[in-house]
Amino acid sequence: MKLKIALLAGDGIGPEVAAQAVTTLQAVEETFGHEFSFTEALVGAIAIDKQGDPLPDETLALCKESDAVLFGAIGHPKFDNDPTAKVRPEQGLLKLRKELGLFSNIRPVKIFPTLIEKSPLREERITGTDFVIYRELTGGIYFGEKFLSEDGTVASDLCIYSEEEISRIAHLAFKAAKGRRGKLTLVDKANVLESSRLWRKVVTRIGESYPEVTLDYLFVDNAAMQLILNPSQFDVILTENMFGDIISDEGSIIGGSIGLLPSASVGEDSSMFEPIHGSYPQATGKNIANPVASILSAAMLLDHFELKEEAEAVVRAVTLSLKKGIVTPDLDPNSKYGTDDVGHYIASNIRDSDDFRGLNQE
Ligand code: IPM
Ligand code: MN
Repeated sequence: MKLKIALLAGDGIGPEVAAQAVTTLQAVEETFGHEFSFTEALVGAIAIDKQGDPLPDETLALCKESDAVLFGAIGHPKFDNDPTAKVRPEQGLLKLRKELGLFSNIRPVKIFPTLIEKSPLREERITGTDFVIYRELTGGIYFGEKFLSEDGTVASDLCIYSEEEISRIAHLAFKAAKGRRGKLTLVDKANVLESSRLWRKVVTRIGESYPEVTLDYLFVDNAAMQLILNPSQFDVILTENMFGDIISDEGSIIGGSIGLLPSASVGEDSSMFEPIHGSYPQATGKNIANPVASILSAAMLLDHFELKEEAEAVVRAVTLSLKKGIVTPDLDPNSKYGTDDVGHYIASNIRDSDDFRGLNQE
């Protein structure tokens, strides 16, 4: 298969981890006989520094004409601590999601058995955890009208949703649940918010056409608690933009490190793949960032284009690296391996099919 991939490495550790996703995809390309091309473009703080715009026109144009976008990370502390900043790196990512129509953000949370003791939660609580969050990504409070009074003392952000925005992601979430354990949990705040009540109404109605899926509902505050108390109860979680942002960071630590979790953002015509972690400025340039989330995002890219065997090869190689302790210091403070060692180990395992046969026999 031929794929034209836009590479938006972004800020902080973004370039380091995205480079390992590219190394992985190149190993897949050679091993399985595909043709992937990578074209780099600027986004985020680095794009503001170089061009005064967090999403330059040529970056957006490249993404639109590519088959997929591989994204690193975004954000820089110099903007976080300046509430008066007029342009922010995050605006680049938000505009990109909106312009590409990436309304569905898919964030799988799964425990790697060899890492179970890295979790801040007890083993018996987290065993069997395997769920996926469907986060609505182009609506809600992130994109509603903003207001700041002239004297700067009053501000608001509008949370707005239409039936259409809810139903298109609900269908994807129900289909996912159908192919998994058949359970869908809608996370909302329907006891308080009108927009949540619309979510309940629309999702309940759509649920009638998926009789094989059991639908239940949780208020987001309770969901935040249940994720820690009993994460294995979840199969597919469907939620709006900001609730999904918050609970996916919470979900990410169940497995021991936020550096492990990938995501896919999909729309009608475009798709983008990125780790859920941020730009981790303190680690920039130190070769210590965990590349696994970025590499697993590359696996989600392969899966999205129906390259199932290839995606499995990547996941297997990642699993082997974790099992063998070829990991970055977030997972083992005494580790002597850097970001690039982990990436190269994973790539070499993809290339070496003998190794895979060995693993399968174990
Ligand atoms: C994420 C990030 C983004 C978000 C930021 C960087 C705008 O936290 O992808 O989860 O809030 O969506
Ligand atoms: Mn987030």
